[in-house]
Amino acid sequence: MHGDSDGDSGAPLGGHEQTPATRQRTKPSRSGLSWAAPEFGADPYAVLREYDAKSVVYDTALEGWIAMRHADVVELLRSPLYAKDPSKAIDGPYTRVQRAMAGSSMMFMDDPDRRRVRGLVSRAFTRNRVDAMRPRIELTAAALLDAVAGQISFDVMAAYAVPLSIIVIATMLGVDDSDRDQFKEWSEDLALEYDPSLSADMRDRVARSRNELVMYFIQAIEERTADPHDDLITALVRAHDERDQLSLEELVSTLVMLLVAGNLTTTDLIGNGVLALLEHPDQFDLLRRDRSLLPNAVEEILRYDSPVTTTDRIATKDLEIAGCPIRKGEWVWAALVAANRDPAAHSDPDRFDITRKRVDHVSFGVGSHFCLGAPLARLEAQVAIDVLLDRCPTLSLDPASPPKRRSTPAFRGLAELAVRR
Ligand code: HEM
Repeated sequence: MHGDSDGDSGAPLGGHEQTPATRQRTKPSRSGLSWAAPEFGADPYAVLREYDAKSVVYDTALEGWIAMRHADVVELLRSPLYAKDPSKAIDGPYTRVQRAMAGSSMMFMDDPDRRRVRGLVSRAFTRNRVDAMRPRIELTAAALLDAVAGQISFDVMAAYAVPLSIIVIATMLGVDDSDRDQFKEWSEDLALEYDPSLSADMRDRVARSRNELVMYFIQAIEERTADPHDDLITALVRAHDERDQLSLEELVSTLVMLLVAGNLTTTDLIGNGVLALLEHPDQFDLLRRDRSLLPNAVEEILRYDSPVTTTDRIATKDLEIAGCPIRKGEWVWAALVAANRDPAAHSDPDRFDITRKRVDHVSFGVGSHFCLGAPLARLEAQVAIDVLLDRCPTLSLDPASPPKRRSTPAFRGLAELAVRR
């Protein structure tokens, strides 16, 4: 699978400089339905069918390019010529302020800064630490289902997927039980940051929650420095190599990012996965009877209905992808959901098949920014589905209440998933 290695391993760099022929070409733009439109949030696959899925197109509403083919997405995300940090391409007050606001988060850094911070964070956020969470995740999942055991119908999102992801990351970080409810509230508010339809009042509330969370983490870092615990916050505070350790700014940005990057996405992986299984009862039955298919089923869920639909880069010089001229300073979106359904990369791509042989999805990104939390997300989804199949073997969609999607175009998930046991 592409994603499993990160780009530090010497993979081909990609990124083509413009030729005289592409420099002449006009933008293959389209108007009408846009990637940024609410319709996209509702059904990106219908929007994709409207686009010419074989090319790179300019989205006039987004004022940026969209790469859709699997090969083009991989090339874009692997290439160091496309940056995360906009100040690498445009030097102006806007990009400088944006850079400052992104803080010291590895997600918005380019190499070599990203490699340094990610290397230090990886010393704390280890595979062993993630694997050690399995029994806690199993217990939490079972307890959440116990709480709705008396109900014939329940909402998988509110009762299961949302609390499970928050409790797992809070437990890993080492958030005190007494702070759990407050932490859950902040996490839920921060997840709203991506909803373009948010009212001004709600935006203020989200900003307040972010500030409070930052204050909470600063205090937690001070406490762990004086009195170390066996938790991820302490491990991050102590993470160092021969020369270096994370600064306070980097620690706080990392903690906020682990929460933001890992919470909504994992919730959505569980929700999208349960929905895909319930919409395909043959696959649900297959998995119920043969749990050895679970890891592959989760990969197929990631491909079939990715929680992250797009990610972006900015061109640091005049470049081209698939013959399309990209100018320095232009944004290019990698349409992960389109690449995951590209017939050139996957046979019969619209079919949900948990026995698919090589599930080569790009849902965790590709290259140097490959998702740091992928092992945790995979483990959580596998356990969540496993426990659900054990406890509710005859689960089905509740015909009285169809699933409701959220309106966050970059993050694809459900607001409500009513089921009957
Ligand atoms: C299903 C769940 C998840 C999905 C689909 C997902 C997706 C992604 C994607 C697409 C990227 C690459 C962004 C880019 O290249 O621009 C990424 C990066 C990242 N993810 Fe995840 N993620 C998930 C869960 C998590 C979890 C659980 C954590 C941590 C608790 C996490 C932490 C990160 C971090 C730290 C990065 C940045 C890595 C870097 O910049 O070097 N993610 N994720």
